[in-house]
Amino acid sequence: MRRTVGGKKSVRGAATDAVNTTIQPSRAKIIVCSSGKGGSGKTCLTRNLAVFAAHAGLRVATIDLDPQRGLTNWYAVRPGEAVAIPNVAVPLSNLDEAMRRAGALGDLDLVIIDTPPGVDASPAEMRQLLLLADFVLVPTGQGAGDLRSVVEWMAFIRREQRPSAFVLNLTVRSAGSFDRAKQRLIEAGDLCPFDIRLYESIRVSDEIGLGVAEMKGANGLSDVRGVFTFAMNTLGLKVPNDV
Ligand SMILES: Nc1ncnc2c1ncn2[C@@H]1O[C@H](COP(=O)(O)OP(=O)(O)OP(=O)(O)O)[C@@H](O)[C@H]1O
Ligand SMILES: [Mg+2]
Repeated sequence: MRRTVGGKKSVRGAATDAVNTTIQPSRAKIIVCSSGKGGSGKTCLTRNLAVFAAHAGLRVATIDLDPQRGLTNWYAVRPGEAVAIPNVAVPLSNLDEAMRRAGALGDLDLVIIDTPPGVDASPAEMRQLLLLADFVLVPTGQGAGDLRSVVEWMAFIRREQRPSAFVLNLTVRSAGSFDRAKQRLIEAGDLCPFDIRLYESIRVSDEIGLGVAEMKGANGLSDVRGVFTFAMNTLGLKVPNDV
């Protein structure tokens, strides 16, 4: 069965005027990482969840819809011996093509999609993308400025009736703003019970083409594991191996 969005009913029954957008196989779950705020950790979350999923034994691929290609550049520095994760790089403006190429990757359990900053600049394309999502993760920092834009973005996602959750990222748990952020976010949507702390090892892993799950003793592994487990439980995806 094909998952089809385009002038027909989507999997969840929402109608759209979009052109045909298909991804095969229908059993692949789709996570979209998006945020109303640049630099909140969309790409970081995408790559760390993808690495975690690959090591957990899931067949996973990523899609980089950001013309700046931060995710694709990370693949370019990824060591040759690291576990292979297929990636499709096509801008959001050509979502149809991105989905066609992802569909051509074959049998997958999970597809994780990284989106460009400034999602509000292309609401039509984002709406089309959201309709494909089984789960939308919205990473955010804990500062007041970050919260304002992600709360607005979450309202948009919820109007589209997509399953979604905020993920607090780059956190400093000892700061008063951490609890205030949790309070603000839980008023505006669902909140992942695990946050990802600000760790140098996460930044470093980014620079050397790895995920924290691939760096021995790296800080942040338990944080990423928490978010991954939360996402898999929400999607109802069975995970073959412990990481
Ligand atoms: N938890 C974290 N701890 C330390 N560094 C982090 C963490 N999360 C993200 N970073 C770093 O913060 C920077 C911004 O993260 P990232 O590129 O993932 O954000 P983004 O939302 O994709 O940005 P953009 O909107 O520009 O695409 C990167 O250098 C990344 O390595
Ligand atoms: Mg990015």
